[in-house]
Amino acid sequence: MFRTKTVEQSIKDTEEPEHRLRKSLSAVDLTVFGVGVIIGTGIFVLTGKVAKETAGPATALAFVAAGIVCALAALCYAEFASTVPVAGSAYTFSYASLGELVAWTIGWDLILEFALGTAVVAVGWSGYVRSLMDNIGWTMPEALSGPDVAEGFGFDILAFVLVLALTVILVFGMKLSARVTAIVVIIKVTVVLIVIIAGSFFIDADNYKPFIPDAVKQPAGAGLDAPLVQLMFGYEPTNFGVMGIFTAASVVFFAFIGFDVVATAAEETKVPQRDMPRGILGSLLICTVLYVAVSIVVTGMQHYSELSVSAPLADAFKSVGHPFYGGVISFGAAVGLTTVCMILLLGQTRVFFAMSRDGLLPRFFSVTHPRFRTPYRPTILLGVLIAIIAGFTSINELATLVNIGTLFAFVVVALGVIVLRRTRPDLHRAFRTPWVPLVPILSVAASVWLMLNLPAETWVRFGVWMAIGIAFYFLYGRKHSRLKTNGERKTVS
Ligand code: ALA
Repeated sequence: MFRTKTVEQSIKDTEEPEHRLRKSLSAVDLTVFGVGVIIGTGIFVLTGKVAKETAGPATALAFVAAGIVCALAALCYAEFASTVPVAGSAYTFSYASLGELVAWTIGWDLILEFALGTAVVAVGWSGYVRSLMDNIGWTMPEALSGPDVAEGFGFDILAFVLVLALTVILVFGMKLSARVTAIVVIIKVTVVLIVIIAGSFFIDADNYKPFIPDAVKQPAGAGLDAPLVQLMFGYEPTNFGVMGIFTAASVVFFAFIGFDVVATAAEETKVPQRDMPRGILGSLLICTVLYVAVSIVVTGMQHYSELSVSAPLADAFKSVGHPFYGGVISFGAAVGLTTVCMILLLGQTRVFFAMSRDGLLPRFFSVTHPRFRTPYRPTILLGVLIAIIAGFTSINELATLVNIGTLFAFVVVALGVIVLRRTRPDLHRAFRTPWVPLVPILSVAASVWLMLNLPAETWVRFGVWMAIGIAFYFLYGRKHSRLKTNGERKTVS
């Protein structure tokens, strides 16, 4: 369970013909890919909710805090991704440094992050599409609008169909997805820039007073809803105030998820040693600047207590008498969320693929399509499962679960950087994390701090998911690992 897979072996595995992915991506493709997945439900939906309920105008500071956590993690991710350029992201990195059990844990954790992340974004997308349909007078029946809208039975048919359609696109291959992504990214960034530039003309400075609203007690009986850190230290759980900024940061963290997904495409990158760090850090920087600007503008346009929680960016324009801008923004959001969904789904299938290639999941899933060179089997299996989850599940609880899973992966990657520097100092690192071990240690501390600011019930759910995963490893993965069977090739059909 502590066996590690050597870096050379990881790279060699990718060269076997029937397990090979096509190498077609450049640094610019990766940055577009990154921005394509990073800007999404986080900025378009969660900003309003968080400003209204936990941080007020100081939401901009929450984005700064979450951005710092991600920048530290990105410096660690970039070293790993440029050293071990094979599919699977943090999973592969930890297999090369921390041993099989940790790698399994991370892989299992990433499946949670990407699968539920895809579902969350699909549900957010469906909300925007319904709001656009309403504009032209079509109303979706409640029972087909999902559990968040319907009283009683609700199935989100739009989210379900979106995930299935994206699954088909991914099966046909990377090239098509990258091209579609590029066009959609342009639309999405344009819409965000419209919010920032047009919105800045409607700012009322009075809305910033106070910039950090005073702390208020959470409603009685919040119980496990309260941030773990506040329960641990026996505070009476509060919203707003300085602690509210961190609570908000642990939620808007969702808005940054995706730069780590760029690392999962290392195996499909032409020159990963050079392009990977550029792609990861570049997309993260662009998004942080945009988020801070958007949240400052939006909380300046409308008093935070009046922001809408479902379509805050569009509704802020309606509140200042510009419904046309509102419509354009809703359209751009709906289009933009499509790529986010697609890339999360892609990252998800690549992790599954890598784990299956190593024998920790059935090898059946790691045979690529003879013509499209895509891991079509896990793509189809997971696509259908996620479509069903997106149809039947409510958005809120899923988002915090995604965050805790992702932060946990950050912790492992940062530790992995330190370990791999000791165990394999000889390896060529195209990108080196500065000030090791200081930066990785700060990254661990920052990620753990955000995790502690998530609700206690999120910790419980995460614990259950990880316990199931570890049981599966001991019952299946440990026995079927290719490292254990000395790389012996099993017949796969
Ligand atoms: N960062 C992505 C979003 O906000 C996952 O939707």
